[in-house]
Amino acid sequence: MINAAWIALGFLAIVLLARGLKASQRDAKMPPGPPGLPLLGNLHELPWSKSYLKMLEWSRKYGDIYSLKLGSTNVIVLSSADVVTELFDKRGAIYSNRPDSYIANELLCPNETHLLLMSYGPAWRHLRKTFMSVLNISTVQTLRTLQGIEASQTMKDLCDTPERFSQHIRRYATGVILSSVFGTRAESFDDPNVKEIYRVQDQFSEILEPGNTPPVDAFPWLQYLPSGLASWKQRAAEVYKGQHDLYHGLLNGTKRRIANAGYVNCFMDRLLSDEEKAKHNLDDEHLAFLGGVMMEAGSDSTSSTLLSFILAMVKYPHVLKKLQAEIDAVCGDERSPTFEDMPSLPYVQACVLETMRWRPAVPAAFPHVLTQDDWYRGYFLPKGSMVIANVTAIHQNPNDYEDPSQYMPERYYKNEHGLKPGRVADPARRSVYTFGAGRRVCPGMHLGENSLRINMARLAWGFDFLPPLDSVTGKEAPREQIPVDVKSAYTDGVSSGPKDYKCRIVPRSRKHVEIMRKDLELAGPEIDQYRKQ
Ligand code: HEM
Ligand SMILES: *[C@@H]1O[C@H](CO)[C@@H](O)[C@H](O)[C@H]1NC(C)=O
Ligand SMILES: *[C@@H]1O[C@H](CO)[C@@H](O)[C@H](O)[C@H]1NC(C)=O
Ligand SMILES: *[C@@H]1O[C@H](CO)[C@@H](O)[C@H](O)[C@H]1NC(C)=O
Ligand SMILES: *[C@@H]1O[C@H](CO)[C@@H](O)[C@H](O)[C@H]1NC(C)=O
Repeated sequence: MINAAWIALGFLAIVLLARGLKASQRDAKMPPGPPGLPLLGNLHELPWSKSYLKMLEWSRKYGDIYSLKLGSTNVIVLSSADVVTELFDKRGAIYSNRPDSYIANELLCPNETHLLLMSYGPAWRHLRKTFMSVLNISTVQTLRTLQGIEASQTMKDLCDTPERFSQHIRRYATGVILSSVFGTRAESFDDPNVKEIYRVQDQFSEILEPGNTPPVDAFPWLQYLPSGLASWKQRAAEVYKGQHDLYHGLLNGTKRRIANAGYVNCFMDRLLSDEEKAKHNLDDEHLAFLGGVMMEAGSDSTSSTLLSFILAMVKYPHVLKKLQAEIDAVCGDERSPTFEDMPSLPYVQACVLETMRWRPAVPAAFPHVLTQDDWYRGYFLPKGSMVIANVTAIHQNPNDYEDPSQYMPERYYKNEHGLKPGRVADPARRSVYTFGAGRRVCPGMHLGENSLRINMARLAWGFDFLPPLDSVTGKEAPREQIPVDVKSAYTDGVSSGPKDYKCRIVPRSRKHVEIMRKDLELAGPEIDQYRKQ
């Protein structure tokens, strides 16, 4: 069969020729960048098959703002906190659009239902307000009990089958959103909802990965290819159907439960209550995808961060010791830590920030698009440019951080920005750029951070994290040999987490195990609410 991508490639040259040389030349006043060829710009230097981001190694050479030309598209990459804070946060009114995507916004998410992908405008603003009404810093506090229960489940799972730790962590991340949004629990990784969430999400990410579909946005006539030549159209329709059925099924289940058994504490129940319904005025398609988008955006990001934390505990045992000392001083071995303990646990908070700085789950955040011509530091930034915050570069900047590549929670212990001594922060600076910046900053950040806090505290209180045993010698692998670097030990792609790794998770004592099991039993009556159908 003819591969549509090859057809697209053939036409690419023709269209570029028709457009003339001009479109691919960089405006002389734009930020510096690699020279590139006429017509293609820097396009030929990028692979078709993988996310182009990982191949771009130019930032070191060209400084904290540089530009690329991908065909006729301008791409501007920002690699320091100062630039991101100035452009995304302070000039947010013009830096908050998303790339226009036919496949994403017409085929996969029609009718402006997907907050992450939507263009900046009134429909986005309305939907964003609804997200914020359930995710703002005060409403997420009402979900702490539920998050505590999901964490108790995870600790019990780790006592039972510690070798399946990465499944337990992923169960937590998906389960906590499922219960927070739809009020229904997934008590194991094999829950059909969890399986289906991962299935549709894998398909969704795959089809959005650059190179897996022809460049329809650069060459809009590709939209009109007949389906016989464009198998991607059929694939997109299937992805949409998978999401639609799952999300509407969950929404229907929620409505059924409200009718049969009444309300529970969760986002969807709040949005379906009479007063809120009138305020937000969203149809079922928007409500279903609101919940679905939360699951998509909140699952892997949370679990990758927790898996990075566990990896760091195996690699850097002195951090774990210090964490355990802090938590033991507050909780002893009589009870596990709770949200109420957090003000007394500054080192836990430092580990939350340091884990997000060290291994951000979305290393290039998500692209923004500039909606008006702009000037910055004497450079011209044209309207329509795609603007990317390189979070990895920001977090590894030696002008800002002492030993940036080291995992050192101490840097955040007495300094909310984690900066090296003498470095004065812009008051608008963020502690980490892991949640992005500006008007598109992650609306789930408070929910996500609470998840990280409670799990990191409980994990360190209850367990030791040890290197795996060598299968031949039976000896513990030396910690120095445990790979933690991004290039070899982490997955590629828009979101990035540790590749599967082995470690031994061992409860600190029998008493700790008893308490962890009891935590879940004591939550029984509360859990029963979320079992109603
Ligand atoms: C540790 C956990 C998380 C990380 C690292 C993370 C990271 C991000 C990043 C980098 C963005 C793009 C920001 C930008 O464009 O500048 C984003 C957007 C978003 N996140 Fe999160 N996120 C996390 C958890 C969550 C959770 C728990 C939810 C929902 C319950 C959520 C919902 C969203 C949504 C809806 C958007 C799109 C916002 C928009 O475009 O207006 N995220 N997140
Ligand atoms: C982002 O920064 C990292 C670290 O400096 C670098 O390896 C990567 O190539 C950069 N990506 C882009 C898009 O510039
Ligand atoms: C999207 O909107 C169009 C026109 O308003 C409508 O006909 C269609 O049914 C909607 N699609 C969904 C999935 O709600
Ligand atoms: C959060 O949203 C609720 C509405 O759901 C609102 O009453 C409250 O004032 C908001 N709080 C903050 C801190 O924005
Ligand atoms: C959800 O309920 C509506 C209305 O009762 C029904 O038309 C639809 O088929 C249901 N969808 C799913 C996926 O269960």
